Amino acid sequence: MASILVLFGTGEGQTAKVAARIDGVLTDRGHDVSTVDVESRPAELDVEGFDAILVGSSIHLGKHHEAIRAFVAENSEVLNARVSGFFQVSLSSAVDDPERHAEAAQYVDEFLEGAGWHPDRIGLFGGALRYSKYGFLKRLMLKRIAKDATGDVDTSRDYEYTDWDEVDAFSADFAGFVENRIGDRE
Ligand SMILES: Cc1cc2nc3c(=O)[nH]c(=O)nc-3n(C[C@H](O)[C@H](O)[C@H](O)COP(=O)(O)O)c2cc1C
Repeated sequence: MASILVLFGTGEGQTAKVAARIDGVLTDRGHDVSTVDVESRPAELDVEGFDAILVGSSIHLGKHHEAIRAFVAENSEVLNARVSGFFQVSLSSAVDDPERHAEAAQYVDEFLEGAGWHPDRIGLFGGALRYSKYGFLKRLMLKRIAKDATGDVDTSRDYEYTDWDEVDAFSADFAGFVENRIGDRE
């Protein structure tokens, strides 16, 4: 059994939902999982005390969650020393379009390169449009972003694009990787 930290940054909750799903898969495999919102993480969170660390963030206006960027910048050394993974939630990964996928990959590449972090596993997942949660201006902005991305501009409803089978497969793969590493160590 490994101790695994799943630390996420979310705007309207989709990345939190993905983190909870990952937690479920890792827990079912017998691991000791702590899933924590980066914004409400306890000051005493002992990052170095975990065997493995998974960090997740959504993309808002081309950028990752601010507190996640700060966390990764501060902890790149320990992240590189542990088994680690990164997952990203965005609209760019929501459509079957190579240009959009390249955009999603570029968000990841620039972020990781800037932070000097080399995760063992990377997951890119489609996000959601939560028109019901946006205020007037945000709804207008997202309608514009969505027009080019998914085409879903009916603001009277929400849309979810996350492929949960992909999230499950990513989680199982990460668990397998952690188990091999921990097994090698023991
Ligand atoms: C204000 C705002 C800006 C966004 N900008 C982008 C963007 O630049 N690129 C993209 O791929 N997705 C963008 N998205 C889509 C989000 O990544 C998507 O809604 C995701 O599900 C958000 O996850 P969260 O609820 O965990 O923050 C944006 C969403 C919002 C609300």
